[in-house]
Amino acid sequence: MEDLTGRVAVVTGGASGIGKSLCQRFAAEGMKLVIADIERPALDATVEEIRATSADAIGVVTDVTNYESVVGLADAAYEAYGAVHVLCNNAGVGPPGGLVWDTTPNDWKWTFSVNVFGVAHGIQAFVPRMLAGNDEGIVINTSSPDGPIVSLPQASVYASSKCAVTCMTECLDAQLEAEGGRLWAAVFYPSGRGLLDTGLWTADRNRPSELARERPRSTPAMTIADLTARGIPLQPLDELAGMVVDGMRARRFVMILDSSGPVETLRSRADSFGSHANPTHVHDLAG
Ligand SMILES: NC(=O)c1ccc[n+]([C@@H]2O[C@H](COP(=O)([O-])OP(=O)(O)OC[C@H]3O[C@@H](n4cnc5c(N)ncnc54)[C@H](O)[C@@H]3O)[C@@H](O)[C@H]2O)c1
Repeated sequence: MEDLTGRVAVVTGGASGIGKSLCQRFAAEGMKLVIADIERPALDATVEEIRATSADAIGVVTDVTNYESVVGLADAAYEAYGAVHVLCNNAGVGPPGGLVWDTTPNDWKWTFSVNVFGVAHGIQAFVPRMLAGNDEGIVINTSSPDGPIVSLPQASVYASSKCAVTCMTECLDAQLEAEGGRLWAAVFYPSGRGLLDTGLWTADRNRPSELARERPRSTPAMTIADLTARGIPLQPLDELAGMVVDGMRARRFVMILDSSGPVETLRSRADSFGSHANPTHVHDLAG
């Protein structure tokens, strides 16, 4: 994966935020892009933007919660470019936070259908074809530090979904290694020195009516503008995308900007585990 020129990348949730930033960076590396998203206007705009840089890109409206839709994405990718070398299962949503007993069945169904089933569908639809192609390649699943590193107790649904993504990817990578290792997997933990200014803050825009909120919001949604007004800095998304490309070249399994804080947290979790205590500490409630 040293030279990415001409390689083909598929990015789900590629129309905005982190996925869009990955697409921009991949295009700058000379890769061909298959950009998948459920939001057609944002997808069309991103494809146009990427093509304006002279990169080769197609957009495919895809609902990752629907297996047939993801198979359709794979068909479109292979029809357009004949191969897929990088699959980024990145589409994700942020459900309402709150007490676990106040969450509702639809919160769990919506979140897991996108964040967990969406990733599984990507693996099911693409990995057999990628293995059959016998090219070097990588499956990058977007997780989050929230859950696999430490759960923010107020974000129980989201954190649980991201634990599943990390677990699935660890299993996948071990299985791919047994297949010869030309194809491998990686977990991407978007994080950094500040907030990520993405559409996750307004993820409800893509929530289907059949899985609508069953409990109305009691307070107005927090916006990125509110938080930046309080002096919280932003983490540039292009730096994350650059880190992912570096990770692809170095064949890293864990893709994270700065692992020092997480390593400390994981050590403290191990200590809690060793003393039979809940590793999600009370101080995490501040998050
Ligand atoms: N923003 C953060 O702070 C943060 C932190 C850690 C991890 N993440 C993860 O990063 C990934 C990207 O999120 P983002 O922050 O860029 O948010 P975003 O909303 O900007 O991007 C997510 C994209 O997924 C698309 N999407 C939603 N439902 C879909 C579906 N059913 N099928 C296909 N596409 C769908 C959206 O239209 C959107 O373009 C997510 O997996 C998210 O959980 C985000």
